[in-house]
Amino acid sequence: MSLHDDVGRVLISEQALQARVAELGRAISAVYTDADHLLIVCVLKGAFVFLADLTRHVDVWHAVDFMEISSYGAGTVSSGVVRILLDLGRSIEGRHVLVVEDIVDSGRTLDYIRRNLSTRRPASLRVCALLSKPSRREVEVPLDFVGFEIPDEFVVGYGLDFAEGYRNLPYIGVLKREVYAGPDAP
Ligand code: IMP
Ligand code: MG
Repeated sequence: MSLHDDVGRVLISEQALQARVAELGRAISAVYTDADHLLIVCVLKGAFVFLADLTRHVDVWHAVDFMEISSYGAGTVSSGVVRILLDLGRSIEGRHVLVVEDIVDSGRTLDYIRRNLSTRRPASLRVCALLSKPSRREVEVPLDFVGFEIPDEFVVGYGLDFAEGYRNLPYIGVLKREVYAGPDAP
């Protein structure tokens, strides 16, 4: 048995992810200068793998900070309730801030983060999301950098979890139905 056996289909291969993340890093590097003293805010937990790869392709001076947001229970459907579980370590007033998120689904989490961080008066605020599910959007939220647009399927890997597992898969995959629905599911 391997963790990979729970994956029904690979949606985005490791190779495709790595190539796109490098492109995103170059695009981000073209927007900022060293003088901006960019602050990259990683939204935990889902964005930690993406952040780790992305930051190594961002060729301008930047610091990183972390914020943990909870919007889901153990299931695959958003509760719509957004909470800050861990806040940034420092003020972002006057800073150029780039939020790095794993996936934008309904848009509620990112909308909350955007509005919350805006009140702290950053010099600029942009968003980089690895994945976006446009068909699921309930709240329109501007995305400055997007890795991939994907269909309405629950995906895991490369930081994204199901019930806290599968974050370590090096690709983005779709779980077999029996994994999240249970063996006796209809
Ligand atoms: P939203 O608030 O509905 O946009 O949901 C955003 C958050 O839900 C993301 O940061 C993820 O943590 C989680 N999420 C949404 N879709 C998926 C998915 O397909 N797999 C894993 N997590 C997801
Ligand atoms: Mg997340």
